[in-house]
Amino acid sequence: MSNRHFFHFTALPLSTRMVYTMTLLVLGTGYLFAMLQVYFSHAGLDGNANNISAEDIRTAYHGSESDTRLETALKGPMSEMLPAEEREVIFKWVKDGSTKDGYEQQVMPIVESRCQACHDGSNPHLPTLINYEGISKVVQKDSGATIPTLVRVSHIHLFGITFIFFIVSSIFAHAYMRPLWLKCVVIVLPFLTILTDIFSWYLTKWIPGFAWFIIGSGALMGISFTIQWVVSMWQMWFYSLPEEIEECGGALPVLGLKPPKVKTADV
Ligand code: HEC
Repeated sequence: MSNRHFFHFTALPLSTRMVYTMTLLVLGTGYLFAMLQVYFSHAGLDGNANNISAEDIRTAYHGSESDTRLETALKGPMSEMLPAEEREVIFKWVKDGSTKDGYEQQVMPIVESRCQACHDGSNPHLPTLINYEGISKVVQKDSGATIPTLVRVSHIHLFGITFIFFIVSSIFAHAYMRPLWLKCVVIVLPFLTILTDIFSWYLTKWIPGFAWFIIGSGALMGISFTIQWVVSMWQMWFYSLPEEIEECGGALPVLGLKPPKVKTADV
């Protein structure tokens, strides 16, 4: 099983291992921040701010099928602010497309008398409902990420993540891992999952169930990154190759750096 082209970490110069180690340290930190970024940009989209769920991912890409903010508020905390028949007028106006004409003829008088006591803009935490522009902001249907946004993030991710995993797996290629197919799977996985991840964004925009593919792709990518990082770091500094494969695995005899071991039995 001699392989003249495989150099285990232990056969590499100290300086090369330093380059690899520092690169992995910084990339590992980067990965942690990427996870934080996912959390901060997605957690709470489904109304539960404390965790990140499949529903959050769905909402981010697909949008929410439920009501607009105005309808949700009028069914919930704002329901006591006006009589039911006036509420129905507002619901109907939203359903009919929340036009400016409809606003001026039917909705404006209600909002002026029932809502503006509080929503006059004096409290920055409340939506300002003093004109059509203000109320328009709370009746927009949430349709998730737009195609231009997805395209922008796609190309950044495709280039960026390929760079990252080219570096990580070029380092990890110096690790000793058997069976060999497992090592190959670990190397190939991130490149495949960045593709499935990104294609699933677009699919989720149409079919929300694909949110699970986004989550699965991310999880597999994370597992592969962790395996490559840990195995590389460990084998670089704390590991010695098994005796029987040291000669070919470390490629030392090929370089003539170290005489092949002679087993006692051979003598
Ligand atoms: C007595 C004061 C008061 C009146 C009157 C009032 N609101 Fe509110 N409104 C609030 C407060 C306080 C909040 C924020 C707290 C909350 O969401 O429960 C809020 C929140 C909202 C929100 C935002 C919910 C979100 O998604 O964050 C909307 C939309 C809204 N109100 C619409 C209305 C409409 C329409 C009317 C009139 C029919 C109205 N409010 C009347 C006090 C008022």
